[in-house]
Amino acid sequence: MEVKTVAIVGAGTIGASWAAWFRARGFAVVVTDPSAEAEGFVRDYVASAWPVLQSLGAVRPGATPEGIRFEPELRAALDGADFVQENAPEREEMKIRIFAEMDALLREEVIIASSSSGLLMSRLQSRCTHPERCVIGHPFNPPHLIPLVEVVGGDRTAPAALDRAMAFYRSIGKHPIRLNKEVPGHVANRLQAALWREAIHLVAEGVASVADVDAAVTQGPGLRWAVFGPHMTFHLGGGRGGMEHFLAHLLGPFEGFWADLGQPAMTPALQRRIVEGVEEQAEGRPVAELAESRDRRLTAILQALAAAR
Ligand SMILES: NC(=O)c1ccc[n+]([C@@H]2O[C@H](COP(=O)([O-])OP(=O)(O)OC[C@H]3O[C@@H](n4cnc5c(N)ncnc54)[C@H](O)[C@@H]3O)[C@@H](O)[C@H]2O)c1
Repeated sequence: MEVKTVAIVGAGTIGASWAAWFRARGFAVVVTDPSAEAEGFVRDYVASAWPVLQSLGAVRPGATPEGIRFEPELRAALDGADFVQENAPEREEMKIRIFAEMDALLREEVIIASSSSGLLMSRLQSRCTHPERCVIGHPFNPPHLIPLVEVVGGDRTAPAALDRAMAFYRSIGKHPIRLNKEVPGHVANRLQAALWREAIHLVAEGVASVADVDAAVTQGPGLRWAVFGPHMTFHLGGGRGGMEHFLAHLLGPFEGFWADLGQPAMTPALQRRIVEGVEEQAEGRPVAELAESRDRRLTAILQALAAAR
């Protein structure tokens, strides 16, 4: 089924960014959100994302930031939708209810994808009559810049729906990965959680400041991770012998590190240290300014990577 119209259900941080991407890729976009502020937020967000999308060459000929339609009622928003991207708050009960409502309103062949960062599709689809078309399509913030989308189904999702979701995300310029089974947090957030836990442990133990632990990522392995993931990075770490040599040579030390990794207790005092640490690192710059700086530099990285392919 050809997708012409995409419905965005829930338009906060993630929904607004998805709206920008789908609009840039030439789709008709309909947005629904119960908040009175959502329409203004999305219009401002898309307008400010547009020049960035243009500089990335992501805007299809003829696509404009205007023309996103707002519908306060879910029924009107879903009327004529060929694909739904749900981005409501990360609350299981609420998403189960919204999925049941969407399922009752949509043609049965329309895929309903949830942006959920960590909920299980088996739960979200549990009250749907056509659960076979429900998938997780988990993006990374901001979805209009980060290519990754994690695709996974629940107990009752049809493999064909996962195939279609993978093909759709690929066709719109995203880099979907398919999870063979559902786990809380999918893949990337579990990886982030593992790294963040150790980052907090190092701060708690006084090994380094919040700013220096962050620099240990951004000025070091973080740069490589934009090119090769943890496995391929160590394949190169093994020199001419590749991963096989890396394992023979350095698995022992890594097993020692694994045994020593921490489990920080998130006491109020530790939470305070983390908050103060990032505030110090931010040097008074508000979050909006930091986000603008992040997006500018992310754009530069994406452009550089595309040019160096
Ligand atoms: N923020 C992130 O970094 C991030 C990254 C990837 C995925 N996600 C996922 O995206 C989803 C949205 O997160 P967010 O950060 O954009 O949250 P958010 O709070 O910024 O936005 C949620 C929006 O949903 C709206 N909403 C409330 N009730 C609704 C309803 N019944 N129907 C439709 N919309 C409703 C709210 O008005 C709000 O605009 C979550 O599932 C989250 O896990 C978030």
